[in-house]
Amino acid sequence: SEIYRAHPVHVQHKHPDLNSLQELPESYTWTQHQDQTNNNSTLNHTVPVIDLNDPNASNLIGHACRTWGVYQVLNHGVPITLLHDIQHLGETLFSLPSHHKHRAARSPDGVDGYGLARISSFFPKLMWSEGFTIVGSPLERFRQLWPQDYHRYCDIVMQYDETMKKLAEKLMWLMLESLGIIEEDLKWAGAKGEFKKTCAALQLNSYPICPDPDRAMGLAAHTDSTLLTILYQNNISGLQVERKGSGWVTVAPVNGGLVVNVGDLMQILSNGLYRSVLHRVLVNRVKQRLSVAYLCGPPANVEICPHEKLVGPNEPRLYKSVTWNEYLGTKAKHFNKALSKVRVSG
Ligand code: SIN
Ligand code: FE2
Repeated sequence: SEIYRAHPVHVQHKHPDLNSLQELPESYTWTQHQDQTNNNSTLNHTVPVIDLNDPNASNLIGHACRTWGVYQVLNHGVPITLLHDIQHLGETLFSLPSHHKHRAARSPDGVDGYGLARISSFFPKLMWSEGFTIVGSPLERFRQLWPQDYHRYCDIVMQYDETMKKLAEKLMWLMLESLGIIEEDLKWAGAKGEFKKTCAALQLNSYPICPDPDRAMGLAAHTDSTLLTILYQNNISGLQVERKGSGWVTVAPVNGGLVVNVGDLMQILSNGLYRSVLHRVLVNRVKQRLSVAYLCGPPANVEICPHEKLVGPNEPRLYKSVTWNEYLGTKAKHFNKALSKVRVSG
């Protein structure tokens, strides 16, 4: 349209359009990894699926956070139509022509917009995925993508954000409740325990069909720098979590379910009782996989430290105080060693 011609964009074709490749380029070739996957899905090797209507949900969640650092939830209250809307938005966004998506490219120092996985800089090989990060209002970015009907897509994102915020709040309290921490015990949360100033980002991910999935990596192993992450995946598997002693376990998509990851800040807040889960994404040669992560953390400049109720003569404090901002700085330098960098040295 006219609008496009009026604003010529200098596209950097540094990275190929993954959808057009018939072979895996050398720069995307990782060593064989499928063999490390544990496909034994006995009960103990299946990520817990928890019904939030279960009166015992808090305990089940607590147990999952201690043993797995991840769980799936059902009856979470998020309308299936909204999940389909955000999925459709993602599909539409990622199927735009490559040069068009680059109009909303993330700048080198920026956080929002279209680009490669943000953890790419820590790895020598490229990942078989594309991402789109939304922080705050998506308006400007969506105008770059959809000059005509950006409103429609903004509405979906805002509704998704609002709904996820409520769910994140609920899950957070369920997780903390099982550690004996109640709303009044958390200073930043406000009298009613509302997440008045909770920060969040939305991360859309696409994993295109891959010509050589055994040697490609959708998203390399990492932990999330959040309190918790709520992940919607379409019905294509690929997400794997590390289970101590069992290797990588696939998080099988559950119809209408959402995946909840314990993040690094929750590990700190829980004084190590809850484990921030190491996870990665594999790709396939049959279907595009799509995921939407709601990354939830505290206000950026609030100090997070092991909760006083969880520290005592027999439970030494494991971590120093750190704000989300500071922690992200540590993560940017040390990546998966960041948690050990904020440990109290014994
Ligand atoms: C992520 O770890 O940020 C995304 C995981 C996924 O795509 O399932
Ligand atoms: Fe993640």
